[in-house]
Amino acid sequence: DVPTIELSTGTLIPQLGLGVWQADDADTEHAVGYAIGEAGYRHIDTAAAYGNEAAVGRGIAGSGVDRSDVFVTTKLWNADHGRDRTHAALDASLARLGLDHVDLYLIHWPLQNRERMIETWGAMAELRDTGKALSIGVSNFEPHHLDAIIDATGVVPAVNQIELHPRLAQRELRDYCKSRGIAVEAWSPLGGSGAGWGTDSSPNTLLTDPTLTRIGERYGRSAAQVMIRWHLQNGVIAIPKSVHDKRIAQNIDVLDFELGADDLAAIAELDTGTRVGAHPDELNLGARE
Ligand code: A2P
Repeated sequence: DVPTIELSTGTLIPQLGLGVWQADDADTEHAVGYAIGEAGYRHIDTAAAYGNEAAVGRGIAGSGVDRSDVFVTTKLWNADHGRDRTHAALDASLARLGLDHVDLYLIHWPLQNRERMIETWGAMAELRDTGKALSIGVSNFEPHHLDAIIDATGVVPAVNQIELHPRLAQRELRDYCKSRGIAVEAWSPLGGSGAGWGTDSSPNTLLTDPTLTRIGERYGRSAAQVMIRWHLQNGVIAIPKSVHDKRIAQNIDVLDFELGADDLAAIAELDTGTRVGAHPDELNLGARE
């Protein structure tokens, strides 16, 4: 079975899930149904901004697995900050998903407008109290964003989902989250699709990286599988995206081998700090409000 991590709320989250960013409705419904129904996934990560929540809901419903056995995450989009909008946005996401609650609701990106971001975080805490979101967290938060919402509300996010892969190992941010009891989730855990988020696109070169490929060969595994092992062994929650059955199955077939200290040291050399998405402080979100 996929290992789990205990969130500060006491909830267990499967350390490996399926991501669906940039997957259209047909691909999403199929991928989610296959991942849960055939490949053994029990964790799906979507977002209002991905435009495919309804397809995720159909995929879960058609999987043959009980909804209560699946960990479902969605995210609050940037235009929906503020107390009332946050409440309405989760209701809209739940309606699209066809669910009465999500397991985890995340603020998708921080805002430069601190006051508004804090107001949103307060509303997220209300949503947790209603049971519409069993756990709440954030995405793309730097330590100063985390400090701001925690200091203002006393509510610590259960997770911070950040860009994280061998070229952006995020050691400092991971250490910071650990010190606060915040679990870390990796987006673009395989180095992304080649289409950047809020930045220029750059092709994925990690999936064919010679170091990762060489390590994989020793275990009869792909570079993708080596990266997923790396996340798991780092205590990180990874949500690799694929819409292809073979890759979806391959990405969860990582539970019967272990990277050695020499492998981890070689992977550490790949950390050039290179992002495939925008730096949260450079996106300037909220400036247009
Ligand atoms: P596809 O859906 O066509 O399979 P991320 O790092 O954001 O999870 O992105 C992973 C990217 O790599 C996706 O574009 C996905 O495309 C592709 N991918 C996912 N799993 C594998 C794999 N095991 N081998 C090769 N490519 C993969």
